[in-house]
Amino acid sequence: MQTGLLHLHNLLRWIILILLVLSIVKSFSGWRGKKAFSPGDAKLWLFTMISAHITLLIGLFQLLAGRFGILTTQLPEGVSVMKDKFFRFYWVEHPFGMIVAIVFITLGRGMAKKPVSDETKYRKAFVFFLIALVFILASVPWPFREIIGRPLLP
Ligand code: HEM
Repeated sequence: MQTGLLHLHNLLRWIILILLVLSIVKSFSGWRGKKAFSPGDAKLWLFTMISAHITLLIGLFQLLAGRFGILTTQLPEGVSVMKDKFFRFYWVEHPFGMIVAIVFITLGRGMAKKPVSDETKYRKAFVFFLIALVFILASVPWPFREIIGRPLLP
């Protein structure tokens, strides 16, 4: 089950990235084109948020009980989390960066329900989604990253 969840966590990264980039492009064109807020965009933002929340749940499970989980791993003698690049990334930097990103995705999606003008919905959602994208791109263990790098696909 652990391997299956890790593979799902890996794959969901692509689903989030595709939905998030689409949300950014559509909220930008809605904002700059002064479009009326569309139910299609509300659905797209909802699916972006749901995929991020599922990834969050799987991530929390991995962080606690996964292969290198906090509860399942005994750090080698003399190793401190913040001084070890691998554990600092997977226990601190990756969860922190991704949780911030997911908060921004949730704020962006929340704009669909806010009683504000359509232009404001699109503009604020665009900014929130863009910030989320920056955090995700910076926090993914891309294969080219030394020590912490992971494959693009499971
Ligand atoms: C947008 C959200 C997230 C994305 C896109 C993402 C992406 C990834 C990717 C691509 C991997 C490597 C998977 C592999 O080795 O095949 C990974 C591993 C991991 N992620 Fe995330 N992640 C996200 C959120 C989180 C969160 C919120 C947490 C913890 C609270 C978390 C904890 C972990 C852990 C502990 C691993 C290492 C698991 C292991 O090697 O056993 N992730 N993540």
